[in-house]
This record gives sequence, structure tokens and C-alpha cells, in this order.
Amino acid sequence: MSRIAYVNGRFVWHQDACIHIEDRGNQFADAVYEVWGVRGGALMDFDGHMTRLARSLSELQIRRPMSDAALSAILVRMVALNHIRNGLIYLQVSRGQARRDHIFPSPDTRPGIMITAKPVNFEKAEARAGKGISVITQPDIRWARRDIKSVSLLPNVLAKQAAAEAGAGECWMIDTDGFITEASASNAWIVTADGTLVTRPASNDILNGITRRTLFRLARNAGIKTQERPFTRDEALAAREAFITSASAFLTPVVEIDGKPVANGHPGTFSLQLRASYVATAKERARKQMNRPSVWLVACRGERPVN
Ligand code: PDD
Repeated sequence: MSRIAYVNGRFVWHQDACIHIEDRGNQFADAVYEVWGVRGGALMDFDGHMTRLARSLSELQIRRPMSDAALSAILVRMVALNHIRNGLIYLQVSRGQARRDHIFPSPDTRPGIMITAKPVNFEKAEARAGKGISVITQPDIRWARRDIKSVSLLPNVLAKQAAAEAGAGECWMIDTDGFITEASASNAWIVTADGTLVTRPASNDILNGITRRTLFRLARNAGIKTQERPFTRDEALAAREAFITSASAFLTPVVEIDGKPVANGHPGTFSLQLRASYVATAKERARKQMNRPSVWLVACRGERPVN
């Protein structure tokens, strides 16, 4: 099936989608992004990602490309046009196109916006989570504003590539004090021997994952002990369970770190139960959020792709 993308105000065929050669996202990584998981046709944690997008834009003084209502409608329409039941929606907003110059262009420069959609094989993703993944560790070599969801992801790309070359599913990154910050494209968690859920506190050191936040709330509401504090690789190796969270992985157990097993080297029941309740809760919330009349009214007026 042909995919449809959204670029600077138009729905276009994916293979024809293009941006200007002087888009600042391309030349300076002067852009931010968001990724929504889609389950059962609904965008998961919709509001959380919208709120973080607004924050990333504001931190970098990039203009918002349109109202939240209009953007919501386009996102919903992208799910429908691409017939996505289970998949991912990627949104990128740049400072716009301008003659190359490090200094910001004039304030009336229109931000650039692009959205893509892709289906994800639901059964394969579930099977991966059921088996768990191994991770490697590497020094965290990123910039000091990891809280901003910037497209400047080269260190993350290198870390994930190193993991892939080692046959691992992720790379956990380590700060100069020996603590895990997060993974190349997900947040890192452990479950301690006494059943406490531990993850690094939100700060400039990590991206405050939307899945992370939702899971935290869910765990607290379920009466599970939670702690936001840094942890080391040795502590993770001695933990009862470990896992990663992100919009694409949801919650995926980590069964091996640098070739050494976490506990018995199999996904723990705690992680798998948490994953199941996260998906169920987020799906239900997504369904409610997507049913807001404001979203659907505007979505129905969507344009047709241009040939
Ligand atoms: N990555 N940390 C990093 C560095 C990330 O890139 C991501 C998400 C997360 C988890 O955030 P969230 O729960 O909001 O997805 C944490 C996305 C999925 C990506 O780059 O594809």
C-alpha cells in the first residue's frame, strides 16, 4: 500500500515527499521531533507528546507551526490515510528554510513541518518483548540538553549502531560518574530486589520519556514502590529485573547487560505485567483522547494527496 506523508501544509505520496535544500533541520539539526505509538488505530499518550513538543519548541525558540487543534487533526488524519492499526507516527518541526547562516533567520520565517507514518508488525513486537533484549553500555557523549527532543541524534545513532553490531537491542549510556543516563532511544529502568521500580530523575541529562511518565503514574496508582534516582551498571546487573521504555518499544525487558545476565536471563513477570497494563491503559486513554469532537471535526476536512 502506498504511504502518504505530510510536508509543509500538504498531504503527499511518501515517495514524492521532499523538503527544501536549505531547511535548517537538514543543515543544522535545528529541529525537534516527536514519535507516537499507534495501537488499535489510536495515537498513544497523545497529549503528553503534544505537551513535550511545545516545550522542545519553546526551549529552542522555534515557532509553533500551527494550533494544537489543527496539528491534532493532521496527526489523526495521517493514521487514517495510511490505514495504521499498529505503528508509529513521526513528526518533525524545523526552524524553517533560510539562506544558510548560524544566526536565527527572521522571526517571520515559517517553521518546516513533516510527518510520516509507518505500520509496525504487532506480533513481532510482542514476541521481541516476550523474549527480552540484551543491551551494551557505552560512555554518554551527547550534549548537555538531552531533555529537548532535538533531531541532533548522531551520538544516539552511533550508540544504537554499536549495539546492533554487538547483536544487542539497545545501548545504555553511562555518565562521567558511572551512572546510566538512558538508552540511545529509550529510558532505562531496574526493579530492585525489594520490588522498587527505579529510573533516573528527569533533568537535562535525559529525555523525559512520555512512556516513562505514564508508567510512573501507573505504577504509583497500583501501589508499586517507585524511586527516581540514578543507578549504575553493577546495580542493574544485581537487579531483579531491568527494562527500557519508549513510544516504539513501550516496555521491553532487558535480560542481558554487556554479555552478563540480569537475574536468570529471562524477562521477569513484573516487567511483563507492567507492559500489559501500560498498553491496556494507554490504549484506553488514547481512544478517549482521539474521540474528542474537536479533533474529528477538523480531521474530516483533510485534503487529498496531490499527485
Ligand atoms: N525515542 N530517551 C531517548 C534518547 C529517546 O530517543 C526516547 C524516544 C526516549 C523515550 O521517550 P518516549 O517514551 O517519549 O518515546 C528516551 C523515540 C521513540 C525515537 O527516537 O524513535
